[in-house]
Amino acid sequence: MPLNVAIDGPAGAGKSTLAKAVAKELNCLYVDTGALYRAVGLYALRQGADPDDAYAVVPLLPQIDLQLQFTDGTQRVVLNGEDVSAAIRTPEASSASSKVSAHPGVRSFLLDLQRGLAAKNDVVMDGRDIGTVILPNARVKIFLTASPEERARRRWLELVEKDSFARMEDVLSAMLERDARDSSRDTAPLKPAPDSVLLDTTGLDFMQSLDKLLEIVHSAG
Ligand code: DC
Repeated sequence: MPLNVAIDGPAGAGKSTLAKAVAKELNCLYVDTGALYRAVGLYALRQGADPDDAYAVVPLLPQIDLQLQFTDGTQRVVLNGEDVSAAIRTPEASSASSKVSAHPGVRSFLLDLQRGLAAKNDVVMDGRDIGTVILPNARVKIFLTASPEERARRRWLELVEKDSFARMEDVLSAMLERDARDSSRDTAPLKPAPDSVLLDTTGLDFMQSLDKLLEIVHSAG
């Protein structure tokens, strides 16, 4: 049985950087499932569909061929043959991804792709519903969080590093809006699996968080 590690939590908790480092340490594939919702959100935007409107988004799904490719531990997202790994990172795609992810049709469209990867490979998979829905039998489940202010500050630093002129208060309000939507939706809302280990990284630096995560993984056997 492949090793499956599920890491869930809100935006900006440090999931992707930490999950990537854990995957490297364990020699597993790092699967960023948010990228799939982002690709669907991007496709909806490009087609002029309102991401909030399930009746506009769900009929587009049969037109979408999504693939995740892995080279040297880096995940690329390929949408209908086009590498959209950079295009899915804009604030517009972030917001659209959260909106389309509330539609049950979108979630079931992406289910098999995620489960298939975890069935065939040792994976560290990060997202919102990995421990609750996608991989309920994962050997290790971690719910990673941090205070909203800390999460917004980290995201803001990331944006500023990329030469964006983002304002801290805008980043915080977009993040709170996305958190509220991700947590309150009816299908697969963001919440810790009952058998997950909670890790709050507020006040912890990257190495401290990584040590704690690896401790959790190793103590799960
Ligand atoms: O992890 P991220 O910020 O790239 O995710 C983008 C959006 O996709 C997020 O707002 C919620 C949604 N998402 C989800 O509903 N389930 C997942 N497993 C991963 C992401």
